[in-house]
Amino acid sequence: MCGIMGYAGAGNAAAIVYNGLLRLEYRGYDSAGIAVMYDGKIKIAKKRGRVKELSAFCGELAGNVGIGHTRWATHGRPSDKNAHPHSSGKITLVHNGIIENYPKLKEELIASGGKFASETDSEVAAKLVDKNYDGDILEALIKSCKMLEGSYALMVMCEGFDGIAVAKYKSPVIIGLGDGGNFCASDEPALAGLCPGICVLEDGDFALITADEVKIFDSDGKRVERAVLENLAEEKSLDLCGYPHYMLKEINESPAAVRNTASAFSSCGKACEILSGAKRIILTGCGTAYHAALMGKRYIENFSSVHARADFAGELRYASRTAEEGDVLVAVTQSGETADTVEAARLYGSFGAKVLAVTNSPHSAITRIADGVVYADSGAEICVAATKSYSAQLAALYLCACVAAGGDVKAREEELFACSDMLRSFIERTDVRRLAERCSKSSAVYFLGRDLDYCAALEGSLKLKEVSYVFSAGYPAGELKHGTLALVDGKVACVFSITDPALAEKSASAVEQVLSRGGAAAVLTDIDGVKEEFGGRAEIISLPACGKYLAPLFSAAVMQLLAYRTAVILGRDPDKPRNLAKSVTVE
Ligand code: G6P
Repeated sequence: MCGIMGYAGAGNAAAIVYNGLLRLEYRGYDSAGIAVMYDGKIKIAKKRGRVKELSAFCGELAGNVGIGHTRWATHGRPSDKNAHPHSSGKITLVHNGIIENYPKLKEELIASGGKFASETDSEVAAKLVDKNYDGDILEALIKSCKMLEGSYALMVMCEGFDGIAVAKYKSPVIIGLGDGGNFCASDEPALAGLCPGICVLEDGDFALITADEVKIFDSDGKRVERAVLENLAEEKSLDLCGYPHYMLKEINESPAAVRNTASAFSSCGKACEILSGAKRIILTGCGTAYHAALMGKRYIENFSSVHARADFAGELRYASRTAEEGDVLVAVTQSGETADTVEAARLYGSFGAKVLAVTNSPHSAITRIADGVVYADSGAEICVAATKSYSAQLAALYLCACVAAGGDVKAREEELFACSDMLRSFIERTDVRRLAERCSKSSAVYFLGRDLDYCAALEGSLKLKEVSYVFSAGYPAGELKHGTLALVDGKVACVFSITDPALAEKSASAVEQVLSRGGAAAVLTDIDGVKEEFGGRAEIISLPACGKYLAPLFSAAVMQLLAYRTAVILGRDPDKPRNLAKSVTVE
């Protein structure tokens, strides 16, 4: 969270940084700011609100070196004064991360006469660099970073230095190598179309970026080389292509995500080797990725005799302190940068477990920790709420489970190709507007299912609450009668997913329990008997028959569309839900 961007070159820095921030807004959007150097002096514009609030000021910021920030508040509420950049003396900087020891540092800086203008932890870094500055910005930054605890990506401008000094520790920084200028940014999408090559900084790295060159240093200030990689960010992923929102565009890209994931699987040889030797598989992730992990656990246990478990990444470190021979940790993460997931992977790696990443970000932190990578190849996802990346993760985990079972992977890939085509026409014809109207007027919406349908229900509930702000919860259908039923009345809606014929009768009785208490029910099903039983009494959404393991791809599409439509009816911005960020780089 928090997107940062820097540029040094022949172009208009304010305009370039502004555009970069617009592309990084999914990392946070409660305030934004830009600083530009002109004639050796730094000028700043910063404001509470979205990046576009800065457009009026960009014309006043002439210069060829600049940095910018789009914020997701951690320390200090969203306000003009807490917006980045922060300055002290000749120093101006932007920060992504959390400086954990900032109260102590702030106290010391105040005791030695420092005055603070904001409530942020980041201003401490500006003061510290200023205090340590003695004519050499790199030296001052290295010295200051030795005093910081926590995580940081820092981009620093210093009057007298015609460039940007960068520090990276546990928050991502990508350097862009351009023609006539160089860039630095939190994520690759900011650099789409700007430069052919990138370098990914490692933890403890520093860099000096000027118009003509990029120099990278280790934590002792010794020059190091980092591989130049192809910039994979594509401008087309930033194009809405006629859709009103990225969320709707990306739901419609789910079929391609499933197909591309199946196609890419043949290149995941190392990952397959690890999975073939697994005795126990621990799956982990946060948010939507955790829900994919839960589904992955069921795939593995249904297909093989390998023991599988799924835990929230933020909780995993408390669950077990060791790993056994044959343990494989599967870290599921769209961004590959989620701090809890990355730390869980690091921890299990240190216990001796093999680490496998399921991600769609090939240059991300998780890929550098992992022993093997499976590409959930959904392409860049811009909407904060995950949609197509979830479909890709389900496809990837379906294939991983097949490998763990020693099954016929080619046959499963073919199933996914066929499923991708069915999903495309299913999304085109599925209309959930009536159900969305109902949800938008409900006091609560409960999502219910058993086994795989329960995992799908959890994700459906997360989607609805995060983009529409309607209260929702996901439960196992069997649990309804043990408490939640007390909340069901005429104002409540319940969305059931029933796709396993062996469990249909039991789930159907939960639908009856809701209907007989005056609640509204919707049933997502591919089972004819269920459709007949509830036709006319519940809203039926017919899924194509594709078997219980792939049905979650279809129920996910329905639930994503439902969340989207409900958000639009209620006038929410589905792409940028309040208080949330896409890439959560703090623990
Ligand atoms: C945030 C996003 C979610 C996402 C979660 C995990 O909370 O808003 O959409 O599922 O992070 O992100 P990851 O990049 O690790 O999949």
